[in-house]
Amino acid sequence: MASSTATLLLAIAVAHSLSLSRATSAPAPPPDSSRQPVPAASTVRAGFYLAAGARLRPLDELDASLYTHLYYSALAVHPTTHRLVLPADPDQASLLASFSPALKSKNRGLRTLLSVGAAGVPGAGSQPRTDPAFAAMAADPASRAAFGAAAVALARDSGFDGLDVAWRFPASALEMADFGFLAAEWRAAAPPGFLLTATVYFSNHVFDAPLPGVDYPSEAVARCFDWVNVVAFGLRPLGAANATTAFDAPLYDRASHFSASYGVVSWIDAGVPAAKLVMGLPLYARSWFLRNKANSGVGAPVVAAGPKQRGSNATGVMSYDEVQKLAAAGRRAVTTTYDNASVASYVSMGDVWVAFDGAAVVAEKLAFAARHGLLGYFLWPVNYDDANLTVSRTASDAWIQNEISSSSKNGTGARQTQEPVRLPPALRSPAATPGPGLAPASGSASWLIWTKLDAFLHLGMLLIIVCC
Ligand SMILES: *[C@@H]1O[C@H](CO)[C@@H](O)[C@H](O)[C@H]1NC(C)=O
Ligand SMILES: *[C@@H]1O[C@H](CO)[C@@H](O)[C@H](O)[C@H]1NC(C)=O
Ligand SMILES: *[C@@H]1O[C@H](CO)[C@@H](O)[C@H](O)[C@H]1NC(C)=O
Ligand SMILES: *[C@@H]1O[C@H](CO)[C@@H](O)[C@H](O)[C@H]1NC(C)=O
Ligand SMILES: *[C@@H]1O[C@H](CO)[C@@H](O)[C@H](O)[C@H]1NC(C)=O
Repeated sequence: MASSTATLLLAIAVAHSLSLSRATSAPAPPPDSSRQPVPAASTVRAGFYLAAGARLRPLDELDASLYTHLYYSALAVHPTTHRLVLPADPDQASLLASFSPALKSKNRGLRTLLSVGAAGVPGAGSQPRTDPAFAAMAADPASRAAFGAAAVALARDSGFDGLDVAWRFPASALEMADFGFLAAEWRAAAPPGFLLTATVYFSNHVFDAPLPGVDYPSEAVARCFDWVNVVAFGLRPLGAANATTAFDAPLYDRASHFSASYGVVSWIDAGVPAAKLVMGLPLYARSWFLRNKANSGVGAPVVAAGPKQRGSNATGVMSYDEVQKLAAAGRRAVTTTYDNASVASYVSMGDVWVAFDGAAVVAEKLAFAARHGLLGYFLWPVNYDDANLTVSRTASDAWIQNEISSSSKNGTGARQTQEPVRLPPALRSPAATPGPGLAPASGSASWLIWTKLDAFLHLGMLLIIVCC
């Protein structure tokens, strides 16, 4: 009985998503049509404000004119009730209530979004470990619907213009299916004009997930979200586990697929339009203690994660502001090394080595994003910027400059994709096309079962729909 009810609800969910698919796969109506559910953003210069790190940069120190969209990050899912967890701390509760009105009073064009899911710890990276509370909420149609309704209601009551699905990150085929259902249902339930975005893994294919063959449902992603925020950072494991210095968010990497460019292009290849992709840039840095300060290049041996800083309060991580202060505090002038092959930069200060995105990296990454016709960028988190908001300002200026020069080159003002889009050779994920020999010996049986179960579920739901 219970299971047939669940199946029926799932069928309704799919029927929802199919009807939505029919509605939106028709040619796009003209922009002034009242049928258009969501006016498309023309560009996105976004920032995530980490509520837990509000003391690093109070809200009133932000310059709201540097962004088109600001995210409140984040409200979590309760692990047992699967409901939205409201901030218990009175300061955070008042931050949530004042976030939208305070920022919009400084920039009337600004849009704000409420991000739900684990806020994540800067530097904890793109490790594909699912958020169990989010996964449990998303697995059950009833809690999914209740959570979505509550989140939309809270967002609207607090003056937000949209909701961000920050499930970091679905890590199995079933969780990906749930992610697709959630996207379709929340889109169907959201009021017209309400923004719905998702913050997703750097690549469309999730590497190193417990089960192989985990791809996002790109068709649902493209159809249901206004755009997706690609987490193009956190590409190296935290701490001294990998015992050498490394870049955390390189644009290019010749030796592996762990690069921002690979991730962005994988999303485009998967069929999500570039104009729905927003590329993430980190405002946190990764740090290590060098084994030998005379050997301070990329790939140099390290002995431990770098020193904890007062503001960011975690070993191996620093805010952009803290990197600048540490560099300025030294007795000798330190120089930033820019690696033009990776598009990444680092400073080494005595035995402390820090990889971070400086102004040159930001400019080059944004040029890449513009060349590929992306909708924009997001900074994560904006409260890690320095007092002058140097990175936010550099990014905003560079993006606007790119837009001006691309529209002056082209009378239509349309952004052009100038380069053929393809993945670096030989770096495609072997797991994306798993042959029998590629599944890990111990996990292959369970992988087969999950894949079959998933296919079976989909087939079952389709049959139900056809019969109805
Ligand atoms: C990090 O180290 C682990 C274990 O030594 C290895 O399996 C993994 O490939 C390394 N990751 C990177 C990005 O180098
Ligand atoms: C820093 O982190 C520790 C736990 O790692 C926590 O107990 C402490 O309250 C944090 N300090 C601040 C100022 O947030
Ligand atoms: C990096 O800069 C060096 C020296 O300016 C130049 O020779 C090299 O071609 C550049 N590499 C890339 C990938 O742009
Ligand atoms: C901020 O800008 C002021 C004036 O332009 C300058 O004097 C100061 O050094 C800057 N501070 C930082 C942290 O960049
Ligand atoms: C400008 O747009 C037109 C079509 O709208 C295209 O044919 C032309 O190549 C574009 N020019 C540039 C410089 O991108």
